[in-house]
Amino acid sequence: MRKNIVAGNWKMNNDLAQTQSLITDLKKQTKTSNAEVMIAPPFTNLWHAFESLRQDDIEVVAQNMHFASNGAYTGEVSASMLKSIGVQTVILGHSERREYFNETDELLAKKVDAALAKDMRIIFCFGEELKDRKKGWEETVVGNQIENALFHLEASAFQNIVLAYEPVWAIGTGETATPEQAQDMHAFIRKTIANKYGNDIADEVSILYGGSVKPNNAEEIFSKPDVDGGLIGGASLNAKDFFAIVNAF
Ligand code: G3P
Repeated sequence: MRKNIVAGNWKMNNDLAQTQSLITDLKKQTKTSNAEVMIAPPFTNLWHAFESLRQDDIEVVAQNMHFASNGAYTGEVSASMLKSIGVQTVILGHSERREYFNETDELLAKKVDAALAKDMRIIFCFGEELKDRKKGWEETVVGNQIENALFHLEASAFQNIVLAYEPVWAIGTGETATPEQAQDMHAFIRKTIANKYGNDIADEVSILYGGSVKPNNAEEIFSKPDVDGGLIGGASLNAKDFFAIVNAF
């Protein structure tokens, strides 16, 4: 079901006290749009955040997970562990996981399968680097990332998948993609899904944009027909800024 979604990826930010302080501020905000709202705290704060927001219209999601159900994987967590604390959605494929932790399309396909096997929803991230765009390869790169990690799936799997296009050159840089660049890529992504699974599936997939979304640019980006919301980094660490983006529809 295609929905408007704004998810805050906290990345490696906020200890327990800072998490509680931000949650207190988030609770004071008023949502005036139809967007689904999610926050992704670090693992150490997931349970606390989940418990604190049980009565609120904010879903707590995980930033990552391992593909195994359990075992000798020091430092990792599994889908069932996340579900055991109430977390139903997980971000996979973020460019920072791909870059700093060498996550390949093949590894991500295994994580996708493991999350779907536990009936979790996935926010699947992908995006080109600046060198790719300068050569005009952005659609080839993005198309390959989607095909290599997702196109082994049955069409029904896409009921549990949210796509997030995050051009690497726009993440944390202040160099936001123009609304036209975002729309062009989102339209390509939707066409890529349609070519494989048909228009009915493609039209129902939410495609989020991520990469320096701020209160002053969110409305124009979200106004584009194939942009269904955003995956927000830095601006999600301030409750007022985050809800300015949530309400930008
Ligand atoms: O996952 C969202 C993140 O990569 C975007 O970060 O700080 O550019 O909004 P930021």
